[in-house]
Amino acid sequence: MADVGAKTASKRRALAMGRIFVKERAFAHIAAGTLPKGDVLKIAEIAGINGAKKTADLIPLCHPLPLEHIAIRLVLEPETHSVAVYALVACFDKTGVEMEALAAVNASLLTLYDLTKPVEPALTISDVSLLLKEGGKKGRWVRPEGLPKEVSEFAKSPAAKPLKGVNCAVITLSDRASDGTYRDLSGPALSEALQEMGASVVMRDVLADDQDMLQEVLKKLCAGDAVELIMTTGGTGLTERDVTPEAISAIIEKPAPGFGEVLRSASARTIPTAWLSRSIAGVCNKTLIISLPGSPKAIGECLQILSPFIGHAVRLASGKSHLGGGAQ
Ligand code: MTE
Repeated sequence: MADVGAKTASKRRALAMGRIFVKERAFAHIAAGTLPKGDVLKIAEIAGINGAKKTADLIPLCHPLPLEHIAIRLVLEPETHSVAVYALVACFDKTGVEMEALAAVNASLLTLYDLTKPVEPALTISDVSLLLKEGGKKGRWVRPEGLPKEVSEFAKSPAAKPLKGVNCAVITLSDRASDGTYRDLSGPALSEALQEMGASVVMRDVLADDQDMLQEVLKKLCAGDAVELIMTTGGTGLTERDVTPEAISAIIEKPAPGFGEVLRSASARTIPTAWLSRSIAGVCNKTLIISLPGSPKAIGECLQILSPFIGHAVRLASGKSHLGGGAQ
């Protein structure tokens, strides 16, 4: 079994499908619920759930995964006398869940087979395939043929736009990025990730690690009402020049320590050095300020950790009920 110890955990989802062709007479029985062994569609749905849970027992090199969600959908297809099975599986872990989705489909199809064979021995299982996978380094993959319309809603990413309608500012703190020694990679990565979450990035800046300068920029931004969220990247560490937390502490009226706590504790499950970041957050004049560490990798990890509640936090801080998101 592959060693995934050094990999980063992320939200993983997979959607798979398969079909069983049962011919006209058995199809009529399935549709009417009159097969001798009972409600075959319900039993096949439960079999799919069991199949996903048992994947690591059946497929030798699969890691046991703590599944967070399994949904099985069976669709009757009268034109071809078939039943399509769709399985959506989700978890937060270091490997994909496509094998779980495929195992769910197979268990469900074999159960349909078992319950239908008393009235029709000429059954055919086919079309077993992966339709979608999300998470990990490669992000979202959708089968090139696209998703069948029956499952396009079913497969939508939950809470995909927690920052819809939120105006953000992004500030990079780095001596070397500000004097041109390095290209700023974290600011663009943070802006792109915020936009993917539905936000508009209305201001971006790269500053030296200078407490007075950062305080001044933050104060100006918070004095107006152009932004509801300011995110900084960099300067949260332990060197003499790391002063982002000090600058934020000096101007906020309401600290929000939960942000730093969750970023450190959740990140440290996979990156022990996460404990070295002094990331903090707080509210200044209805603007939420959150500091993240200064690497593109850390930004992806941290936003994933914050995404279930960041939209709600911005709404609470700003007092604006029109913003998207909400408690999830
Ligand atoms: N947090 C996450 N999620 N991922 C990371 O790669 N890097 C750590 C830590 N937090 C990291 C992380 C490291 S190596 C350091 S030194 C501190 O953040 C501080 O980084 P900064 O000074 O760039 O803010």
